[in-house]
Amino acid sequence: MSISKITIAVDGYAACGKSTLAKSLAKSLDYIYVDSGAMYRAVTLYFLDNNIDINNSLHVEQAIKNIKIHFKNINNNNYTFLNNVNVEDNIRTPQVSDFVSPVATISIVRKAMVRLQQLMGAQGGIVMDGRDIGTVVFKNAELKLFLTASLEERTRRRMLEWELKGIKNITAREVSSNLQKRDHIDSTREDSPLRKANDAIEIDNSDMTPEEQLAFSLDIVENVLRKTKINS
Ligand code: CDP
Repeated sequence: MSISKITIAVDGYAACGKSTLAKSLAKSLDYIYVDSGAMYRAVTLYFLDNNIDINNSLHVEQAIKNIKIHFKNINNNNYTFLNNVNVEDNIRTPQVSDFVSPVATISIVRKAMVRLQQLMGAQGGIVMDGRDIGTVVFKNAELKLFLTASLEERTRRRMLEWELKGIKNITAREVSSNLQKRDHIDSTREDSPLRKANDAIEIDNSDMTPEEQLAFSLDIVENVLRKTKINS
């Protein structure tokens, strides 16, 4: 009997390698990969471009109705589309990074995103990364990973990422401060705060290469698949 595909939730702090791990896990397992952070970033880009006042819930509600987000895989790369426009680069800027956590505190926004995320994962066979995937979006996920890494390492990685994209006019202090600010807002918000689910496995990847964290996680996946098979 072939075993059905499981759901894998990857949560953790800002810039701690969630997307790198989730993407490579999905590729190795031939699962769907969804970057839930990209969705909050796309909403933020729309709010910035359209001067939406996030304190005005009527405006926010109307704006959310005008937003369509989808992902496209082109040549093994994932692209985020906002109202049919590829915004993959525009959602990764320091400006969007500065504004995304306040936007992600808004319940109207979260409700709409969570609904979409649950639809995307309805068939299983999905790896989704974010902040509330194991605690809210897929509470029953067969596997929940919670990533951590030191602030220094996370700052170094995000600086490198931005450098490769040609964003060079930002200091390590600014990057580090953005990560800390977001972690604080994300973990203290009322709606779906970032926290490790009770049944999540924590991985500190400060000293792991992307290949090492993938191998480490694939071992865990194999164990879960074996157990799921025995119990099915
Ligand atoms: O890649 P990075 O760790 O910088 O962040 P991201 O995954 O792109 O997420 C950007 C922001 O979206 C986070 O700081 C959260 O404020 C928000 N977010 C959220 O609230 N819930 C999620 N499931 C995913 C992201």
